[in-house]
Order: sequence, then C-alpha cells, then structure tokens
Amino acid sequence: MKRKSERSLFKSELLLSLLILFCSNGYAQNTLISEMDELKWEKIMPGIWKASFGEMGLNPMDYASAPKTDAIDALGDSPFPFAQDASRSLLTPNRASIRLPLSETEQIYGLGLEFEGINRRSEVYTLKVDHYGGTKGYTHAPVPFYISSEGYGVLINSSKRVKIHVGVGNRKDSKLPERIDRTTGENWSARPLSDAVEASVEGGGMEIFVFSGQTTLEVVQRYNLFFGGGIIPPKWGLGFWHRMHTESTDEDVLKEIQDFEENKFPLDVIGLEPGWQSFAYPGSFDWDSTRFPDSKNFVQTLDKKGIKVNLWENPYVAPVSTMYQDISPFTGSHTVWLGEVPDFTIPEAQAVFLKHHQKNHLEIGVSGYKFDEVDGYDVWLWPDHATFPSGNDAVEIRQLYGMMMMDMFDRHFKEQNQRTYNLIRSAYIGASNHNFVLYSDYYDHQGYVTALANSSLSGLLWTPEIRSADSAEEWIRRFQTVSFSPLMMLNAWSSGKKPWSFPEVTDMVRNTIELRMKLLPYLYTAFYEYNEKGIPPFRAMVLESGYDSQETLDGSELDDAKNPYAEQKRLEVTDQYMMGPSILVAPVFTGQKERMIVLPKGNWFDFYTGEYAGNGETITIKTKLEEIPLFVKDGGIIPMLSTVDKNKSDQSLEVRHYGTKENSYLLYNDDGMSFDYERDEYSLTELKSTKNMEGDLVGSSKALKENNYNYGDIVWRWMTVKH
Ligand code: GAL
Repeated sequence: MKRKSERSLFKSELLLSLLILFCSNGYAQNTLISEMDELKWEKIMPGIWKASFGEMGLNPMDYASAPKTDAIDALGDSPFPFAQDASRSLLTPNRASIRLPLSETEQIYGLGLEFEGINRRSEVYTLKVDHYGGTKGYTHAPVPFYISSEGYGVLINSSKRVKIHVGVGNRKDSKLPERIDRTTGENWSARPLSDAVEASVEGGGMEIFVFSGQTTLEVVQRYNLFFGGGIIPPKWGLGFWHRMHTESTDEDVLKEIQDFEENKFPLDVIGLEPGWQSFAYPGSFDWDSTRFPDSKNFVQTLDKKGIKVNLWENPYVAPVSTMYQDISPFTGSHTVWLGEVPDFTIPEAQAVFLKHHQKNHLEIGVSGYKFDEVDGYDVWLWPDHATFPSGNDAVEIRQLYGMMMMDMFDRHFKEQNQRTYNLIRSAYIGASNHNFVLYSDYYDHQGYVTALANSSLSGLLWTPEIRSADSAEEWIRRFQTVSFSPLMMLNAWSSGKKPWSFPEVTDMVRNTIELRMKLLPYLYTAFYEYNEKGIPPFRAMVLESGYDSQETLDGSELDDAKNPYAEQKRLEVTDQYMMGPSILVAPVFTGQKERMIVLPKGNWFDFYTGEYAGNGETITIKTKLEEIPLFVKDGGIIPMLSTVDKNKSDQSLEVRHYGTKENSYLLYNDDGMSFDYERDEYSLTELKSTKNMEGDLVGSSKALKENNYNYGDIVWRWMTVKH
C-alpha cells in the first residue's frame, strides 16, 4: 500500500493534468451554467422534493421533529413548481453553490426573523446566527427557507452559513436584461434584474428541499408540517408574563405578586433573571441560597397561586457550578464570559446538562427557561476556529446551538407528558414544533411588528416584549402589540416598570390584557390549527388571499454624497398582520394620530363596533389611544370567554359574529397542560351561523367530539347584523 504522502502526490498530478486539459489559453475556465450539474429532484412526499450533492456536516434536521405525514397527505399533491433542468449545483474546492430560476415578477419572502421589510428580492443575505444588526441576514433566526409569490418554497438544508443572492447579481451566461447606458439612458439600475436565486456555503455540499402549494400559505403549511406542525402552548403560556429584577429575593417576588393582585392585573408566569443563580455570566445553574433559601417551597408556593416560574439562563458553565466537573470534559476550546461551552452534539453533554436541570429546577416545578445569548455577538461568543471534543465544526455548532437546546428540553417535557412554553434567542430550520418563542435586545416598536409578521414565514414565534417606554402613550401602544402576539410579556426588570407605572393609561393597559385573555378560546384554537395544519397563528399579510401588498419605491434621487447610485428603497406594508383565521391586527405607534390599513378583498368589519370598514382597499382611520385597531373578515366567528377571572371556573362563552355571511368554525379545547391531546383527548365544537327562512342569521353549536373539555354556556352576539 502506498503511504499517504505518495497517494496525495498522485492525486495532485492527476489534478494538474485535468487542469491542463481544461485550460486552452493558460487560464482556468469558468464553468458555464450548462456545465453545472443539474440537481436531481426526488419526490419524497406529496408536494415535497429533495435534491442533494456533496457531503454535509451536521444535519440541522436532527434537531427538528419528524414530518406529520397524514396532514401533508391531506394537503394533496401539486406539481413541481419550476423548470427542473434550470436548477443547478456546483462544487468547487471551497464552496458548494446552487442556482435556481427566478421569473421577472416573482417576489421572495422569508429567510427567517427580520426586523426590516417583508420582500427579500434584490438583496444579498449572509444567514448567520447572531445578535441582530450589521450585515443583512445576521439575526437570531436566519432560516435558509424562502417562499416565492408563485407558490413554492425552497429550503437549503445546511448547518453552514448560507450566503444567498436573491435575484441580484448577473452571470454573463444568464438571461440578461437590456444594458442601459447610465449617461444617456433612463431607468439604469445599480441592481439589474437577475433571473436566479444563487446561494452558497463554505462547505462540501448541501441538501435542498422544494415545497409547493397553491398559495403562499399552503407552502408555509407544508414546511411547518414537514417539521411536525406547530406547537400548542400550555394555556398558562398564553397568559401574562412578568420578569423580576435580577437581584430579587423570594420575598420580593411574593410582594410583587401581591402588588399585581392589588392592582387587579392578571399574572400567570414570573420570570427570574440571572440573579436567581449563585453565580451568573457564566452561570452556576444552582439556586442562590441567600436570595432563594428554599427554592422548592418558593416554586410550589407560586404554583398554588396558579403562577409558573421561568428561569433565565445562558448555557455557559462557571467552575463554581455543581455540574462543572461532569460537564467540563464535554466543553469546547474557548469560553464565553469565561464559562465553558458544552458541546451539545455529544449525548453525554446533553445528559449532564439535563440531569442537573431536572434535579434542581424541573422536579421542583419550574415550568421552563429563557435561554439567552445562544445567538450572541462575535465579540463574546466562541470564534469560528474554536474546537469542540466531538470534532464538529464551531461554525455549525453555533448555527445550531439554539435548536439543540430546544430539542433537548422539548424531549424532556414530552417524556413527562407536560407542556411547556419558553423563550430563546436563537432558532433555525424546522423550529415550529419547538415550544419556544424568540425575543431580542433590539427595541424598535415598528421593527417588532415587522418581526411578528416575518416570523410566520419561517416556522418561528416572536414576542415584542415590553421593557420600558418614554411616555404613557408608548407604554399603552406597546402593551397593545404584545397582547396580540404569541407571548405577552413585560420584561422590565432593569427599568423597574410595572404594568401600572403610567397611571394615565393603567385602565387601558388592563383592558388590553383582558381582551387578550378573553380571546383565549379563539387564540388557542388558532394554535390547534398550527399544530394540525401548519397554519401560523400570527401571519404576515402576504399569506392572506386577496391581499395586495401595494409596494412602491421611495423615489430617492441621485445625490453624489449620500446616494450616488440613486438606489431606491422599497416602501412596503409591514405594520399589520393576521391573528387566527379572521382578525387583522393593525398596531399603532407613538405619535400616530391616523394610520392606513390595507384590507384584503372581501368585506371587513371593525372588531369593536361591528361596522363595515372596507373591501380590498386602503383605508385611513383616526386612532384611539385605548384601542388597537382590529378588523374582522365577513362571517368571522370569534369565541371569547365571558369572564377572565382565573379563580372562577366559569367557562361560558360569548361567540361574536361579524358581517353578513354564513360561516362555520371549529372550536378546540383540551386540558391545557399535557400531551393527552395527541391521544385524542380533546373537544371540538362546531359553531355555525346560518340564515333562517326569514333570511336572519342564527347561531348554533354542536359538540363534534365531547369530553371534559367542552366550554360552558354559549351566547351569540351579532356584531353587524342587528337582531
Ligand atoms: C439580555 C437579555 C435580556 C435580559 C438580560 C439579563 O441578554 O436579552 O432579556 O435577560 O440579558 O442580563
């Protein structure tokens, strides 16, 4: 047998002769599109295809749930969405790249959590898990999945950072638009239209998945169902969350709970920030015995009051931690804030970490966590050249770190048959079936609303948590938005603000929270649809049929200091979204006395008055400080709790109907805390509005699946048609 060095000599001779073969004029030739490999698509499920080339590193899908095959089958089949022979791949010594066709009018959405814009066309993104900002694509959840307005989605399955050129950049052998002379011509553009999406990773290969659909929503449904569908949070998770100051003691928490009671504010979850631990940044993961001398008694006292405890953590282990000795053999070469970084690709590392959490927190009743800093900035996270005991690449571990943590804890809760709801600051491919909501240190209110909409395009949930406000107006406006989001949380531990900190708006804040709580049957059923059909409970408008995004350009002109290429910004509607099947939410920002709302086709009605608002048009409304504008589709049926006092077991419903259409709605309920619903333990009630002989609308309800979880008495309220 030849020695290694001889073998590599032979290899390089071969390469050299190949190179000579390809070089007619002394230079290496470019690979033409026609010479790139055609991607070979294999149909793996109805409406889902896969192609792959080269070798992958870590597989992101190892940290996501398995497909919900029955639900995918139920969506039916649809044809492959673009010319197969136009999809190409290329492997060069350092990169794996693909080229997929893009038509002139196609718009592209998705690519993970983003605070700016919805449409991603004509831009370049480097999809790196990072704290938000700087380079485009550096975000908490840079999911390499895009959705086309033509009804398909593409997922690039790689744990490397994907660099993606979305309809920008032109190959010389591609279909080029007309060349315009910049001096004499009109409409010259610094970003000429390109006929492709091109993407690459620094690595040896990738997998690509195509999801087709009749509509953009169906594409998203297929994507979510491919990863197990969405979650159904425990009911307490949809209540009110409040986080304590980091130096709080057990007594401070009890005092805070009393203040909530006295001020008549609901409270479902108390979050403890870093100081619950004996050491933080890096963490000990052990209770601080001076602040929490009897942690078990503390957690159980809260539990008796119907309040859950959520613990803040970042996963970097301090030597003073009681798990340090056990985890240290499984940590990487570099530290974060001088704490060791567990290599969660190693099962033993997961086992040690989980066991410590089980014993010290979960077994005494802690309900979940807020996993912070699993995204991080380069200046404090591990470098790309760090090494890990598994031998896995540091870049890939960083990209998947949040997913690994979610997967590890979700599996634990599932085994306990206990539902959970948590926070995390990093997610990636296939996150819809993880019981985690994203948040950020970024604090722009408008950006928060854009993120709420965008997250629905990538299997993510997002909370526009409240930290502080400069005025009573900002305070109520932020409360209105967070009350219409997946997780209603006040994270004002450092500003020290309470819900009643701005007395002028205290009643408005309470009413907003109460409205959200009353909408629980509607919201909970929307999560059931997320789970069953992959329909996101909060959705970007581009997923709504009959919606016209009405994009324009901002008309920027040449300015040789500020805008030498006369680049124009896209003006698009990013400040409204859908909640559940029929409510359109249009948050208001500080200072807005009026706002515009783009109503999709069909009749829409004001949520508060039932009055007609418009149809397929842009309306302008005068804002009211006490209301977040909400509009309901014609025929919208909205089940609401009659009261929200959690000490009373009254489960009677007010079912609202809007507009004049007949309609039916399937109301879902279950025990609100276990996974028994997966074993058929839930109730479904059909709520129907039909016209009688006189042409008047009448309401009826029918239990389609009866058990302990049916709601109580139902009273119909006709919001538009007066009876
Ligand atoms: C930040 C986090 C905040 C807060 C803080 C505690 O990184 O985003 O929500 O938890 O850490 O130190």
